[in-house]
Amino acid sequence: MNSAQSSRVRRALTGIKPTGEPHLGNWLGAIEPALALARDYETYYFIADYHALTTVHKGDDLRKYVRDITAAYLAFGLDPARSAFYRQSDVPEIFELSWILSCFTPKGFMNRAHAYKDFVARNQSAGKDDDADINMGLFGYPVLMAADILMFNADVVPVGADQKQHVEFARDIAQRFNANYGEEVFTLPEPRISESVKTIIGLDGRKMSKSYGNTIPLFLDEKPLQKRINQIVTNSQEPAEPQNPEESQVHALHHLLMAAAREAGLRKTYQAGGMGWGQAKKMFFETLNERLKGPRAEYNRLIADPGHLDAILAAGKDKARAVAVPFLEKVRGLVGVR
Ligand code: TRP
Repeated sequence: MNSAQSSRVRRALTGIKPTGEPHLGNWLGAIEPALALARDYETYYFIADYHALTTVHKGDDLRKYVRDITAAYLAFGLDPARSAFYRQSDVPEIFELSWILSCFTPKGFMNRAHAYKDFVARNQSAGKDDDADINMGLFGYPVLMAADILMFNADVVPVGADQKQHVEFARDIAQRFNANYGEEVFTLPEPRISESVKTIIGLDGRKMSKSYGNTIPLFLDEKPLQKRINQIVTNSQEPAEPQNPEESQVHALHHLLMAAAREAGLRKTYQAGGMGWGQAKKMFFETLNERLKGPRAEYNRLIADPGHLDAILAAGKDKARAVAVPFLEKVRGLVGVR
């Protein structure tokens, strides 16, 4: 670590891929842990719209997802005055860096990327060509992600467990670059994995994920939210029988929202018997609705005012480019294109 790095406030950076309606799993697994870092770190949050482009191929969809997720982060308390909050595509320097880094990235890294290998495995089991429907954006995805991270010299990168390998690639690429030019140009980032991500399950008991259609969207009005919660699968025990909270999907979600003391009370209610699933779901709905009321109102206000959202992202762009432009100049000088 050089002296400039050791004396500065540590930086946390994370990217948010705008691919659909934000849901409970996104909030508890990504939004909340990321925003909590603003207390102790200099924070960089950005909307990874060019990453989303690897799979979202309708312009209007992508525009909508970007607005939705921007409003969601703001509604949950992201303070754009305290953080840099920007859209990836607004910082073209990231793409120039991405090319430079790709020239230091062994192709074998990309072959070994879990996300890419999963695609290939799915193609194989469907009897298709290994690389069917895999575009080059998807294959090179980790290099762009490395550029996102290394451009801002992030120390810590909060991500879900599925993204850990990508942060490790960024670290490896940074090391290769630094070693080649004999200078600590890039800070080596560390992944910070949120444990709760693994345990957020959806309506049907599988991991909550848009691709399973089992999510609880965050900004539904009360009625549809309640309806959605009523769809959580339950066992067929009679209401009079004691329930094991460990085996209840309703409890698995409800307990994530509660302080330990209240949670102990809820467990007793389950174990005592006499509580039907209807009542358990109603209690969960009430807890969740209480927490979402404020953010929902704020989200609706923000979505109704796209000009305001654009202005926030425009300010974020200036903040991000104030760092990216001079840093890229330095990198260009080192590699010899200036
Ligand atoms: N790939 C991440 C995801 O799917 C999003 C992302 C893009 C990201 N660039 C990043 C996360 C940089 C952390 C740092 O969730």
